[in-house]
Amino acid sequence: MPRRKIAVAYSGGLDTSVMVKWLSDKYDADIITVTGVLGPTAELDGLEEKALKTGAAKAHIVDLQEEFISNFAFKALKAGALYEGVYPMATAIGRPLLVKLLVDVAIAQGADTVAHGCTGKGNDQVRFEVGIQSLAPHLNILAPLRFWEFKSREEEIDYALEHDIPIKVTKKSPYSIDENLWGIAIECGVLEDPGIEPPEDAYQLTTNPKSAPRESEMILIEIDNGVPIKLNDCFYSSAELVKTLNRIGGKHGIGRMDLIENRVVGIKSREVYEAPAAVILHKAHYELEKLVLDKETFRYKQDISNKVANLIYDGLWYSPLFKGLMAFVDSTQETVTGKVVLELYKGNITVLSRTSPYSLYNKELATYTADDTFDHKASDGFLKIYGLPYKMLTLVKNSLIEEAK
Ligand code: ARG
Repeated sequence: MPRRKIAVAYSGGLDTSVMVKWLSDKYDADIITVTGVLGPTAELDGLEEKALKTGAAKAHIVDLQEEFISNFAFKALKAGALYEGVYPMATAIGRPLLVKLLVDVAIAQGADTVAHGCTGKGNDQVRFEVGIQSLAPHLNILAPLRFWEFKSREEEIDYALEHDIPIKVTKKSPYSIDENLWGIAIECGVLEDPGIEPPEDAYQLTTNPKSAPRESEMILIEIDNGVPIKLNDCFYSSAELVKTLNRIGGKHGIGRMDLIENRVVGIKSREVYEAPAAVILHKAHYELEKLVLDKETFRYKQDISNKVANLIYDGLWYSPLFKGLMAFVDSTQETVTGKVVLELYKGNITVLSRTSPYSLYNKELATYTADDTFDHKASDGFLKIYGLPYKMLTLVKNSLIEEAK
């Protein structure tokens, strides 16, 4: 009988390295590691060799950077999805794509089980497991970190040494870091005390705004149907555009966030994020929407943005509601085309100008000069009717007070 196969979401870090060996022993199974590359990371060097040395039967590594930005991050951008109004959700947006890859490889390789290295109190276990159940309900799911015997990092290191599992013995960063092109999440260490300011060494990507260049920098972003396509008049692929903006924004100290956030499992956590490109692009995109969307669509979309953000954060990317709301979002993006000029300066972004062929701004209607074409007299009737409910309310209230006297 062929051996059982388990597909493992693999980063090459300590947890998933130990997991490969531990699963193959415990379940007498062939382990297939699955790694989706969502951004530049040093961990990639020699990753395949490392997986095989650790005991994997096969190692799949796929560069998903363009797909991640085009089909995942830019969807969230079009939706204006920022969790609790601020967090651009690099981690939360990356997980559904990693889940898709994991499930595709598991099915192609004939694995009946998939495993991930998320802990029992984070959001990522939710995103993995709801995603897997939505895409491939027949697969068994294992989350060893929730039940294996290791109680600490040190115990995992002992196990790795005992079993010749290659692990990096560099000085461990005091932080836990999750990184992709859309942003970086930094947790643990001293950051666990929300009463303490994040030390400078927590930030990985951005210059401290205080020491950022004294010269501001202007950038021109061109958006087509809600999708950023050009920067400073040059076409870029989606991933290259984001990489370039991370570099420029990072230099000017843009995109730092220190947040208290509500996790899916009910606890509050303190999170430090850096996401220069995401913050710049959300600002530019929103600015353009203000110019081109009619009042009711613009207002309604704010509620939808919030709802979409909650769905993404809560691991419901593959839900029917997400799909339906995204259909609404896409229909709103038909006129979100134009140019936005921003100025970056010491952690701040200022909008300098915005233009669009679909602009609903009309100077003759808005002006206070003699060129004004707005029909001021029409407001007479409009206000008589628009104010009528409140006039009636007060009239009735006053007459009741009179009667009671
Ligand atoms: N709290 C953020 C989120 O849930 C970031 C999580 C970082 N993930 C990680 N595995 N370190 O989206």
